Amino acid sequence: MANLKSDAFVFFGATGDLASKQIFPALQAMIRHGHLDLPIIGVGRSAENLDQLRAHARESLEKHGGVDARAFSMLAAKLQYLKGDYNSQETFGDLRKALGKASRPVYYLAVPPSSFATVAEGLAKSGCDKGARVVVEKPFGRNLSSAQELNRALRKSFPESSIFRIDHYLGKEPIQNLLYFRFANSFLEPIWNRNYIQSVQVTMAETLGIEGRGRFYEEVGVIRDVVQNHILEVVALLTMETPISRDPDGLRAEKERAFRAIRPVAPHDAVCGQFRGYRNEKGVAPDSQVATFSAMKLYIDTWRWADVPFYIRAGKRLPVTATEVVVQLRRPPQAVFDPVTQGEANYLRFRLSPNVSISLGARTKKTGEAMVGEPVELVVRQASGDEMTPYERLLGDAIRGDATLFVRQDSVEAAWNVVDPLLGNAMPVHEYESNTWGPAEADQIVASEGGWHNPELVQETTKGAAK
Ligand code: BG6
Repeated sequence: MANLKSDAFVFFGATGDLASKQIFPALQAMIRHGHLDLPIIGVGRSAENLDQLRAHARESLEKHGGVDARAFSMLAAKLQYLKGDYNSQETFGDLRKALGKASRPVYYLAVPPSSFATVAEGLAKSGCDKGARVVVEKPFGRNLSSAQELNRALRKSFPESSIFRIDHYLGKEPIQNLLYFRFANSFLEPIWNRNYIQSVQVTMAETLGIEGRGRFYEEVGVIRDVVQNHILEVVALLTMETPISRDPDGLRAEKERAFRAIRPVAPHDAVCGQFRGYRNEKGVAPDSQVATFSAMKLYIDTWRWADVPFYIRAGKRLPVTATEVVVQLRRPPQAVFDPVTQGEANYLRFRLSPNVSISLGARTKKTGEAMVGEPVELVVRQASGDEMTPYERLLGDAIRGDATLFVRQDSVEAAWNVVDPLLGNAMPVHEYESNTWGPAEADQIVASEGGWHNPELVQETTKGAAK
């Protein structure tokens, strides 16, 4: 069953936000590229009938990516709708009928995590689980213990091999390129360790605030929203050992070992912040302590990475939108010419979003009599944004049964283990102004390294493909 193609695509939450922003655009794109030839069944509560769902799909596409007349009419023709309550077994009985002869459906649970177990149970009781795969969204749980509980609930109905946990970052072209770049080049490996690398910084900065998602954000905050998943995935790809094969489990096993080697963060190595004005957002408590910014220092307990600090930082309402990794190499052991300070030593910069580039920071001699140098950047690769959106790619993979870019439960748990000490009310939250790099307290974390590397502003013309 593992690699048999699914024969129906069912999405729960058909009239919700995720369907509107991601699923309809992905389905339309898959049809346009000729990748989707299955019945599509939306299950939801808000639309009264199929015509309303079609109208909702059109509106969603008008707002998110645009309507492609031909592909949309094909999508509308394939679409079926089932109005129903997830708590009622009748809904799942109706779904079984609507599936007809389909025997390998894929179910996308675009519903709040609190409904995962109810839907999974409904599917199992009605026999809809046979031969099926189920796709669930991040964040998977609220902390280590709730992730384990959620998993137990899903596992009552589905084996691990049928559960596809989405982290849309893994569907991004530049993230896959990070993995490719590391293991397709031989020049990197000899220096990719504590002997040559001084420190690593990962920054995920967003100019946007919470954009009407107050209720959702109050439940998660920055650590659950993007650190436990997107940023730690990037750290795992940077630090993992060479996979012994490219099959899904070869890669995922090495990634899981990388997650497990990250030491749980000590609260004194982290700083949390909240942008001024967050508490006035709709759905946000007037005395909310939810963090919209977080910076922390991580250590990886392996021979390769011992004592190399990984500084990570994510925040809303920062001066630019960019995700960037800077790998700072150690400076030359002796100053033959001019002395090189740590900040001016060689580095590798992986710009992951919104534009993509990999560059090497080097030094060359300034023209003139003196043997004095200046920093230059050699751009190793630069390309425009992805053709496929992460959701198009990941839903296609789930339909084909390719789990490579989905997150295994053991990795989810290992990632929660890293951030668990910072959750709950463990951390004070410092206010920061919008359009700044977070609270001043965050600078202390990197004081010994000469400060944060702030990504520079670039034209955001390639942003279309991002989530
Ligand atoms: C999502 C978070 O998972 O990722 C959002 O819920 C965040 O808060 C988004 O804005 C960032 O993803 P991207 O693809 O826009 O960089």
